[in-house]
Amino acid sequence: MLRNQDQILSKIANNDGHGENSAFFDGWKAYDADPYHPTLNPNGVIQMGLAENQLSMDLVEEWVRNNPKASICTAEGASQFKDIAIYQDYHGLPEFRNAVARFMEKVRGNRVRFDPDRIVLSGGATGAQETLAFCLADPGDALLVPTPYYPGNDRDLTWRTGVELIPIVCDSSNDFKMTRDALETAYKKAQESNTKVKGLLLNNPSNPLGTVLDREALSMAMKFINDKNIHLICDEIYSATFFDEPGFISIAEIMQESPDSNPDLIHIVYSLSKDLGFPGFRVGILYSYNDAVVNCARKMSSFGLVSTQTQRLLAFMLSDDAFVEKFLAESAARLGARRGVLCGGLAQMGVGSLKGSAGLYCWMDLRRLLKAATFEAEMELWRVIVNDVRINVSPGASFHCSEPGWFRVCFANMDDETMRVALSRISKLVMQTNNSEAAAARKPCRRRSKLEISLSFKRMDEIMMSPHSPMTSPLVRTRT
Ligand SMILES: Cc1ncc(COP(=O)(O)O)c(C=O)c1O
Repeated sequence: MLRNQDQILSKIANNDGHGENSAFFDGWKAYDADPYHPTLNPNGVIQMGLAENQLSMDLVEEWVRNNPKASICTAEGASQFKDIAIYQDYHGLPEFRNAVARFMEKVRGNRVRFDPDRIVLSGGATGAQETLAFCLADPGDALLVPTPYYPGNDRDLTWRTGVELIPIVCDSSNDFKMTRDALETAYKKAQESNTKVKGLLLNNPSNPLGTVLDREALSMAMKFINDKNIHLICDEIYSATFFDEPGFISIAEIMQESPDSNPDLIHIVYSLSKDLGFPGFRVGILYSYNDAVVNCARKMSSFGLVSTQTQRLLAFMLSDDAFVEKFLAESAARLGARRGVLCGGLAQMGVGSLKGSAGLYCWMDLRRLLKAATFEAEMELWRVIVNDVRINVSPGASFHCSEPGWFRVCFANMDDETMRVALSRISKLVMQTNNSEAAAARKPCRRRSKLEISLSFKRMDEIMMSPHSPMTSPLVRTRT
């Protein structure tokens, strides 16, 4: 085993910029070590920390079966194998970029047009974000980002680039909406520390909030970046993942409606990881209105291109208008129904969640369950949730939330039955806390230990799985 790694390896190899040692990833490790299975491991950890869209995979499977020509690994497509397997230039297959541009337009109600020549491919939105950071900022420069935000931003935009993220602090008093005051405060803070702000990063629809930015918020952001002459990166990875009003509005629409906007400052990040549920394919898209950025990003894309086999398959799929329309409608319906089951179930227990219309998760309010309004108390509660309740949800602190007690709960990576079990487990936690509070009110001097709480979870199992449990109510059992 090598010693003194800090002396023989680079700063990047030695630093913690990847974020793997955070609670966000720790929860995944807890799940990996003991994954739930309904029959083989019914007491295992249920994964609710993964924003994956698995609810409409049956439609994709059906399409793949009906379109064998789309794959070069079938009798129908094998004649194309050589053409696809040999080197391609780094622009990506024209038919794929065309299909992606049309798909992005469709998702935006055909209210805007996208030029396929401005599409740069990358390894997921992850790769697109980093490429943009390399193109727009130098080490030590900063991007402003409203909180709470997707934890991967720290890795994607800062780790290898040396760029910094400066939080724009938002809170629950106005449902975490970004205000011009909060923007100005973050900008001023950067200036006071002599940090050059190069841009504003927005994620619309938001991960973790499940909310969309309205026209007013987007116009305000556009005006702010114009005033300061900085870039606007819009991560629109969930642009087709909305299922309710208010719907999604792209920055592309705002730009089109604002004659004063400067297109050279606007960049969109997209991927097929969420809307289609293909994170394994690593299809990322960087769309910039700035020619120099497109040029530079395209050269950089050599480091993270999408395999041509994947491009070809998806070019076929996305060009099938009937399939795309059916998929988007059905996926939205299923996601909306599933969110209803989760948030409705939580509401029945007296647990609130932020009203949202998009995303693969809900932003659950467990502030009432904290022993104190601190991030230490949030971590303590999170450990109970992972270790005793046996579900992996992500604590607000990992999203840089400014207020303790919020948790992101993903709902689209499991089947109905697993969701039911997860809700029954959360309900136990809530009932347990209610009972503890009632007991504490009777005996104010004695506080229950963590061990006592964990033991009583096991006794509660019997109550919760009985036919009289609140979790067997028709609302909670609604099928998607
Ligand atoms: C807001 C946001 N941006 C970017 C990503 C990274 O996406 P990809 O899997 O395409 O790299 C994610 C993934 O969860 C995300 O939620």
